[in-house]
Amino acid sequence: MSFEVPPDWWKSLFDEIYLLTDARTVDDAELTRREVDILCNLLPLQKNDRILDLCGGQGRHSLELARRGFVGCTVLDYSQVLLARGQSTSEQNGCRVEFIQGDATTTGLPPASYDHVMILGNSLGYLPEHSDDLQILREAERLLCPGGWLLLDVTDGMVVRERFSPNAWHEVADDIVVCRQRVLDDAAIRCREVVLCKEQGLLRDQTYAIRTYGAERLEHLVSEAGFVAISVQKGFASSELKGDYGFMNHRLLVLCRKRQ
Ligand SMILES: C[S@@+](CC[C@H](N)C(=O)[O-])C[C@H]1O[C@@H](n2cnc3c(N)ncnc32)[C@H](O)[C@@H]1O
Repeated sequence: MSFEVPPDWWKSLFDEIYLLTDARTVDDAELTRREVDILCNLLPLQKNDRILDLCGGQGRHSLELARRGFVGCTVLDYSQVLLARGQSTSEQNGCRVEFIQGDATTTGLPPASYDHVMILGNSLGYLPEHSDDLQILREAERLLCPGGWLLLDVTDGMVVRERFSPNAWHEVADDIVVCRQRVLDDAAIRCREVVLCKEQGLLRDQTYAIRTYGAERLEHLVSEAGFVAISVQKGFASSELKGDYGFMNHRLLVLCRKRQ
């Protein structure tokens, strides 16, 4: 099986359909609450800290933090659709979260302006080059104040490769089916996603590719970006995910700091 992946796929995939296809992991309030419990245990968060949720999508983690009284959350994401969703949820719930559209490689935000940066829910490895991932981490480092913390939550590339499954499908409610065909490359997993709806027919037929990292390579990458005091926790799954949740079953949590 062979299919081409457009280099800019990540600019269009994260839309309303993504919120359906990935609802099991990114639109489940209980799961998000558990993930936020974990990040609150790992990061030394203070209620007034400036927290950047980089590649934060619709801001589910920041919105939950805001509900818990953290008043300095900012979500930066490329997807206007997800940002609009987050902004609307924020207004409905009276939460204080800022939403900014931008590219995580070059945010244009001022240096040393955050106490914590979080890159959660497997949001690395989407841009075409390995150097793009390094650039995102360097940008996170630039945005942190001295001694600031980075928390990275990405899929464990080693486990995904060991348990590689070329085909997966799941249903969303009663009327939508999500089918995925996957191909394993040296550096990335390429995927074709077809989404079918009983009422509306074909909703999506799109390809994408995600570069994966094992613990060692990831540790090396954050070190190359300038971070210190790096610890990597393996085997993170915010719930007992039964079934094929693609990149969300087995994750690595990396915690590190910007130099003082
Ligand atoms: C799988 S989603 C996860 C979103 C969120 N962190 C969560 O856990 O729900 C990945 C997100 O990364 C964003 N993203 C990927 N590359 C990006 C980039 N270079 N700049 C900004 N956002 C990016 C996408 O738009 C998408 O919202």
